Amino acid sequence: MKNLDPADPRYTLGHATIDRTHAEFIELVKRTIDADGTAFPALFDALYAHTREHFAAEEALMVKNAAPATQEHCAEHGRILADMRRFNERILAGRPMMARAWLRDTLPDWFALHTTTLDSVLAAHLHRLQAGQ
Ligand SMILES: [Fe+2]
Ligand SMILES: [Fe+2]
Repeated sequence: MKNLDPADPRYTLGHATIDRTHAEFIELVKRTIDADGTAFPALFDALYAHTREHFAAEEALMVKNAAPATQEHCAEHGRILADMRRFNERILAGRPMMARAWLRDTLPDWFALHTTTLDSVLAAHLHRLQAGQ
């Protein structure tokens, strides 16, 4: 699947926790895309929960380490979480179609762009701090 290869070298940012979380995210997105109608609601809900934790952990790193572009990065997270929340509500109301389309057509491209830009900026900043530069 396009932009959902956990071994894609663009996704190796060199921060163990971030890289592991991203690999888990990709696997969960793929499982949710492939899920049948019975399994889909619980998997989407699990993905939403995983993403909340994923973003909260990055935001904690940003704040703790005074990372650049923190405001922009948090705003991007907030935008995606708001979308996921809306889709989750639709799924619970028995209308999963838009969530499925978004998961397949929008989220993978968003993840690729986000990881190679804002998450990459964060990881590079953490690297520099660790190296004492
Ligand atoms: Fe991330
Ligand atoms: Fe992020």
